[in-house]
Formats: sequence, C-alpha cells, structure tokens
Amino acid sequence: MRNRLLKLLERHNAKVLAIICSTFGDSGKGKFADLVAEEWADIIIRGTGGANAGHTIWVNGQKHVVHMLPSGILHDKDGKVNIIGSGTAFDPYVFSKEQNTIRRSGGTFSNFYISHRAHLLLPQHKVMDRVRESNATEGKIGTTGQGIGPCYTDHYARIGLTANDLFNKDVFVWKLKRNLEDKIKLLRLVDPELVKYVMQHEDLESGEYYSARDIFNVDAIVNRYVMQHGLALNEYITDTDELVRKARGKQNILLEGAQGNLLSVDYGTYPYVTSTDCTVGNLAKGAGLREGDVDLTFAIAKAYMTRVGGGPFPTELGGERAAQWRSAPGMNRLREIAELGDVSINSDDEFEQGVALRIEGEEYGATTGRLRGVGWFCAATQRYSNRLNGRVFLMPITKLDVLSKFKRLKVCRALRYNGPDYRVGNLRIRKGHEFSELLPDSEVLRYCEPIYDEMPGWNCEIDKTDNKLPLETINYIRHIEQQTGASTGILSLGKDRNETYVM
Ligand code: IMP
Repeated sequence: MRNRLLKLLERHNAKVLAIICSTFGDSGKGKFADLVAEEWADIIIRGTGGANAGHTIWVNGQKHVVHMLPSGILHDKDGKVNIIGSGTAFDPYVFSKEQNTIRRSGGTFSNFYISHRAHLLLPQHKVMDRVRESNATEGKIGTTGQGIGPCYTDHYARIGLTANDLFNKDVFVWKLKRNLEDKIKLLRLVDPELVKYVMQHEDLESGEYYSARDIFNVDAIVNRYVMQHGLALNEYITDTDELVRKARGKQNILLEGAQGNLLSVDYGTYPYVTSTDCTVGNLAKGAGLREGDVDLTFAIAKAYMTRVGGGPFPTELGGERAAQWRSAPGMNRLREIAELGDVSINSDDEFEQGVALRIEGEEYGATTGRLRGVGWFCAATQRYSNRLNGRVFLMPITKLDVLSKFKRLKVCRALRYNGPDYRVGNLRIRKGHEFSELLPDSEVLRYCEPIYDEMPGWNCEIDKTDNKLPLETINYIRHIEQQTGASTGILSLGKDRNETYVM
C-alpha cells in the first residue's frame, strides 16, 4: 500500500498535495492526511478553519482527535514541519489543551510554526457564536459553537486581532477594546442571565472573562492571552508564508483542508455553511500558496453521505423525521443506542436504516458529539463539488466497509425539485425540474427529492488485508466513478491505515 501510494503521487509529479472533503466534512480526511504526512510529506499545513474541525487519526490502534493541530503533528519528532497557516482561526485555548495531549503521545513541537497572520480566536467570539445560536429561532445554522463565524466576521470587518498581536501587549489591548465595543452593545440587548450562563463554560475559563458591569473583563483576557498563551506561543509564531514559499518545489508539501466543499461560505449551501471557503483554492491561499501551486488534490468522499448541523440534505435516510430525531434536545449516541440500537440496517423503514447506518459508521461529531445525518451517496452533489477541485484531482472513497451489511444500495443520480416557483439567476425553476448537478441554493435544495439508482450490496465482510474486493463492491465504485466523472484512485476499507487500497 505504501509503495503504491508513493507511486501514485510520483505519477502526478506531486510536490504539493491538497487533501480536502468533497461534501459536508467528516469524510475521513484525517486518515489520509496522517498517512501522507508520515509516508511522503516534509511539511504539513492547515490553511483554513479552526477548532470547528475534528480530525480523527488512528495510530497503532490508538485514537487521537485533534481540532486545531495539523494531522502531521505526531510526526513532528521525525523532523516533519507542521504549520498552522494564515487563513486559520487560531484558538490558543484549544491549542494549549491539544499540545498537552499530543506531548504525552510523543509530539515534540520542535518543528512547529503558527503564522503571525493567523486570525486570533478569542473568548468573545465563542460568546457571540453561542448567544446567537441560542437566540436563533428560524434557520439555526447549528454551528459547532467554536466562535468561527464571529472570528472571520471580525477579520473582514477589519477589527480582528492576529497571532502577531500577542507579541505586542499595548497593541493587543487597544485592538481588543476596539473589538469588544460593538459586541458589548449587542450583548446588552440580550438576556443578562443567558450571557452570564454562556460565559461560565469551561472553555471560557469558567467565568474568568465575565464582568457583571462591563460584560467582558478586559484585564482577564489580556492576562490570560498575552501573558500566558502569548508567552507560551512566542517561539512558534513566525512568517510561515515565506517559509512555505521557499520550500515550494524543493520539499513535499501537504495542505490539510477542513470542513468540505459544500460547507464553503462561497460555494456551499449558504447560509448553512461555515465561515471560510473550504475549497482547494482558499486552502492554498491560507497556507501561503496559490491554487496553481497545487499539483494534486485528494477530494475525499465517503461511500455514503453525512451532514451535521442545520441545512438541506436531500438524501438523508428518514428525511425530516431523521432530521428532527437527531436534533432533539439531549439526543446523543448513548441515548440513540439505548432507544434504537437494535434496528436493522436492511429495514424497510428508511429512518431505521439511517439509525443503523449511523451506529455502524460511528457517525457522531468529533467536535460536538452530535448525531450526524446519514444518507445515500449523491452523485448530483458530487458532480457539482468536483468542479471546485482545481486542475488535477482524485476522489478517494472512505468507509466502504461500513456499507458491508446492506443487501441493496442506492446512489442518487439526480435531484427533483418539488417546491413553489422560484428563480435563481436566469433559471426559472418549477415543480418537477430535475437537477443532474446540485444547485447550491438552500431554498432550492430544501424542496429537492432524490432520484435513485439501485444496485445489490455485497452483504459480506470485505477482506481488508488481501484487497480482493467483492464484485458488487467494484461495481458500486465503478458506478460512482461513471456517475461523477471522477477517478477514485484510493479506497479506504477500515480505520487503520493498512486498510487502504491504492489503485
Ligand atoms: P461553524 O463552522 O462552527 O460555524 O459551523 C457552521 C456549520 O458547519 C455547522 O452546520 C457545522 O455543523 C458545520 N461544520 C463545521 N465544522 C465542521 C466539520 O469539521 N465537519 C462537519 N461539519 C462542520
């Protein structure tokens, strides 16, 4: 597998490889990022997003979940350079927690850098994110609550702070005060008990930043962020763009994406998206390069589809019933298993099938623990997504093994609109309109129903070691390739990195 992977990268003359997710995130990027980081990359960079991402990596059967750190961090001790790039929302609190954990697993942080231009994610961003989500009535985004939206909003409103501001206390203080001005005005309009409650959260140091009079205790933020985090981060913060530019062409560079194409603020199902553009172009920019510098992209797709949080998901098994079930107050994995753990994956009821698939695929959020919606693979979504992937890309398929118990499988070939007359640009959409390619408009998608192709499942365990795939598995992959016009190149048959089939 290792040699085949290296050959595949060689065939594409890859010096810069980007790994992104084709759809709504949680596609299993972490496994590939970790694999490529160990076997091939000299430099591993995160260029977008922040601690909203959850990357699960398995090494020697041990599970590691990182939110802020690049997946290559465990290989830091082997001389690999890991970077948190300029396009990220850098959260010093999450970083310091993860640093402690990773150090215990052998990470040294001796070749680790943070861009001095990375946007600084501060306590007020989490507060604004959580208060806004608590107060939202219609159209809840279902954010991870990590403050991502408010942090990037500040960046574009030109009132944000960067990692560089941690070096200069006076500048940090005046920028922080300016940054807090509009937030304090807004929070004064909100139920004071809610604000106080939100600020008691453990990741806001259990109320340390709360002031009954001023809402935010500026001194407490300055002390914690400049005097504590800032000092600890001092040695890592540098001009990483220059470092990356100099390495381009000489060393193997891995760009590690976060979230997925369909969650991109520019190209996704707006407004049910994250606050960065998660496509390869922006990933390259956030890492200090340009899209044209990327030689090859792995646009990872799961063998079925998942989506967490709000927003339309036409192929969700169980439809609206499933969406309500997973967002019910207090719903979590244990409760789902206790109440519905015995339903069959081959049930005639799609809602039950969905529950069984979620349990089988362990589709529970790595960052929030929320239930992910699960559904059939959607070729219409994938066709749209593929257009965003730059010059040369492969579409590796993950979690094929999770489908092993299904007797029959479905793939969505097109989406049929079933809503009121609606106009998008020059397109007038009426009931019955069929989309062979997803139109990234939430108002259209919420009324779309999937049109499926059906095929037999393999209904047996895949032998993950000898790579002799059942005929039905090969047919499923061929069907997906034909329908989407993309080559898969790599199949993931299990959690472990050895359970990977490189074509
Ligand atoms: P935010 O990024 O926390 O603002 O959340 C915005 C939307 O993106 C929500 O629907 C989240 O569930 C979703 N989201 C953010 N990060 C991830 C991720 O890493 N995987 C999947 N969904 C994500």
